[in-house]
Amino acid sequence: MAKELKTIGVLTSGGDAPGMNAAIRSVVRTAIAKGLKVKGIKKGYQGLLNEEIIDMEARSVSDIIQRGGTILGTARCLEFKTAEGQKKGAEICKKHGIDGIVVIGGDGSYRGAQALSRLGINTIGLPGTIDLDISCTEYTIGFDTAVNTAMEAIDKVKDTSSSHERCSIIEVMGRNAGYIALWCGVANGAEDILLPEKYDFNEQQIINNIIQNRKRGKTHHIIINAEGIGHSTSMARRIEAATGIETRATILGYMQRGGSPTAKDRYYASIMGSYAVDILLKGKTNRVVGYQHGEFVDYDIEEALQMEKGIDEYQYQVSQWLSV
Ligand code: ADP
Ligand code: F6P
Repeated sequence: MAKELKTIGVLTSGGDAPGMNAAIRSVVRTAIAKGLKVKGIKKGYQGLLNEEIIDMEARSVSDIIQRGGTILGTARCLEFKTAEGQKKGAEICKKHGIDGIVVIGGDGSYRGAQALSRLGINTIGLPGTIDLDISCTEYTIGFDTAVNTAMEAIDKVKDTSSSHERCSIIEVMGRNAGYIALWCGVANGAEDILLPEKYDFNEQQIINNIIQNRKRGKTHHIIINAEGIGHSTSMARRIEAATGIETRATILGYMQRGGSPTAKDRYYASIMGSYAVDILLKGKTNRVVGYQHGEFVDYDIEEALQMEKGIDEYQYQVSQWLSV
């Protein structure tokens, strides 16, 4: 029989994402509503190893749902990748009476959660990343906000780019995944969309597109480039030299990871936070919460990490048909 749960911990790990605070708030308030005690673990696994652990009450999470970032802080912790680090983490949990943990982060953070689970601490992962690059879920906390932030910024660049009849390369986040680039490419009506999963490095094709579009009378040419491809500044120099059209690069960078979460990120993060507490109370461990085909679901972490997801072929085709 599952051990009765009395105290749970919550931590955020890896890159922060808007909506993480909504998830923390939901974990804390749901747990308290169900008679549990809650501890906040600061700065991810690093804070766990440093015993930066605080008691959390319902009021500790007042007035945070609308804030970007994470009130608990986040970190990358190399020590936690070692067996000794993980053992120390589990012992610290036991010392503080923590018998379950909700880990909000990405794939790397799930590996840490898996290790804790193997060491007897019930763990549940929530998908927190702006990159949408977690295979077991169609939704990740922060993506919606990040895409909206990038979209608004790109609209602004497009205004000035058109006025000067320039070409603009706008680099959006996504080290390994092109979801932000794909969505912005479509939502901003870009002329070229470069995704790490698809780009064939045929720069001549882009140059031809720019020249043709200019001949057709287009005053702007927006290229959305994913961070995973990068090199936007040198690409701009080469395109300007080849086309004779002034070309500028704008790298949006970290502004995409901050800011007040959208309603969708606040809402889904809230549901997922409650869902995590509910399945902990059912005695589940080593699970990750996802959103698939209109439903909130949970998977075994190992199974989730083995899943693969790529850019949807049809959606990619649409992006190509529309970017003329
Ligand atoms: P994300 O969770 O966003 O994928 P990272 O890959 O940087 O971000 O992972 C966040 C943290 O999770 C790491 O700094 C480390 O503390 C922990 N982690 C990552 N990989 C492992 C692993 N293989 N075993 C244990 N902990 C890990
Ligand atoms: O949060 C995801 C992400 O924004 C990636 O797109 C990016 O490559 C990475 O984080 C950069 O994070 P950091 O500079 O904090 O390591």
